[in-house]
Amino acid sequence: MNPSPAKYSRITGTGSHLPETRLDNAALAARLAADGIETSDAWIVERTGIRARHFAAEGQLASDLAVIAAQQALQAAGRRPDEIDLIIVATSTPDMIFPSTACIVQRKLGMHGGAAFDLQAVCTGFVYALATADSMIRSGLATRALVIGSEVFSRILDFKDRGTCVLFGDGAGAVVLEGSDQPGLLASELHADGRHAGILCVPGQVRGGAVTGDPFLRMDGQAVFKLAVGVLDSVSRSVLARAGRAADSVAWLIPHQANIRIMSSAARKLGLPAERLVVTVNEHGNTSAASIPLALDCAVRDGRIRRGHSVLLQGVGGGFTWGAVLLDF
Ligand code: ACO
Repeated sequence: MNPSPAKYSRITGTGSHLPETRLDNAALAARLAADGIETSDAWIVERTGIRARHFAAEGQLASDLAVIAAQQALQAAGRRPDEIDLIIVATSTPDMIFPSTACIVQRKLGMHGGAAFDLQAVCTGFVYALATADSMIRSGLATRALVIGSEVFSRILDFKDRGTCVLFGDGAGAVVLEGSDQPGLLASELHADGRHAGILCVPGQVRGGAVTGDPFLRMDGQAVFKLAVGVLDSVSRSVLARAGRAADSVAWLIPHQANIRIMSSAARKLGLPAERLVVTVNEHGNTSAASIPLALDCAVRDGRIRRGHSVLLQGVGGGFTWGAVLLDF
C-alpha cells in the first residue's frame, strides 16, 4: 500500500481494440434473412444510428480483446505492465465463471501481484470501474491502474430476436489511471435501482452442468429508452454541481454508445451542441462496458480530445445502473 496516497487520479494513456470481422447492416440483414428474420439498414439507422458492428472470431474471448486495448493504453502512457498494481475489467461477458477476466488479462500481460478483479455493472461498467479505481488510488490502495471495458456481446445475442441482435457489437477499451498532484478526475457519481432488473437482462444460470433459464439478452427497449434519458441528465447535473462546473465548460460529452437518439437527447438536455458529442455507435454498435473507453480512445487518437479538455462520461445500463465521471483529460 502506498503510504502517501495521491490527491487525484489522472488518465495517462488510452487504448482500444475491435475484432476484425465487421458487419454492416446490410450484411447482418442478409445473415438474419437466411433464418427468416426481416430487418433493414433503413430501420436500424433510423431507430439507433447504428450502421455497422464488429463481432469476435470463434474462440476470441473478452480477455483477448482486453489485452490488446491494455497494451495500447500502456504504450500511450509510457508504462510497463509491471508498473501497474491494479487491474479492473468491466465486463458482462467474462471468459469464464471464474477466475475473473482481470486475472486472465494480468497473466496474458505477463504480470503478477497487485489486485485484479472484474466489475459487473453492464453498460455502466466502465464508469463504475473508473470511479472505483480513482477511489482506490486516492485512498492509497493502488498507485497505477489499468481500467478496461471488454465485451463479446455477440455470444449472448439471440439472432432470432431482431429487436436486440441488431444493436450490439464486440470490442474493448482501456485507460491507464495514475495518482497525480493535478486533476484528473474531478467528480464521480454511481447509482443503481434493482427494481428495474427485468427490463434488460440475461436471465439464465449455469446449474448442474447445464444452462438453465434463458441465456440470451432480453430487453424492453422503450422502458430502457425512457429511464436512460432521465437518469443520464440527472446524474450529469449532479456530477457537474459536485465539481462546481457549468455544463457549457464540458468540451466533450461521451455517453454510453447505446443509441444515437438517447445520446443526442443527453447532449441537448445539457445544452451542448452536437459537435461536442463523441459518437462511435454508428461504427461499433453498442459494445456495453467497452463503449465509453472505445469512444474515448477514438477521440484521443484522432486529436479531438487534448490535454486539459474537460470530458463528461455518462454510463447507463442493466441493473438498472447509471453513473457519470467528470474529468480534465
Ligand atoms: N428491424 C425491423 N423491424 C424491427 C426491428 C428490426 N431490427 N426490431 C423491431 N422491429 C419492429 C417491431 O417488431 C415492431 O413492429 P410492429 O409495430 O409490427 O410490432 C416495430 O419495429 C416497433 O418496435 P419497437 O420495439 O416498438 O421499436 P422502437 O421504436 O421502440 O425501437 C429500439 C426499438 C431501437 C430498441 C428502441 O426501443 C430503443 O432505442 N430503445 C433503447 C434501448 C437501447 O438502446 N438499448 C441498448 C441496450 S441498453 C443500454 O445500453 C443502456
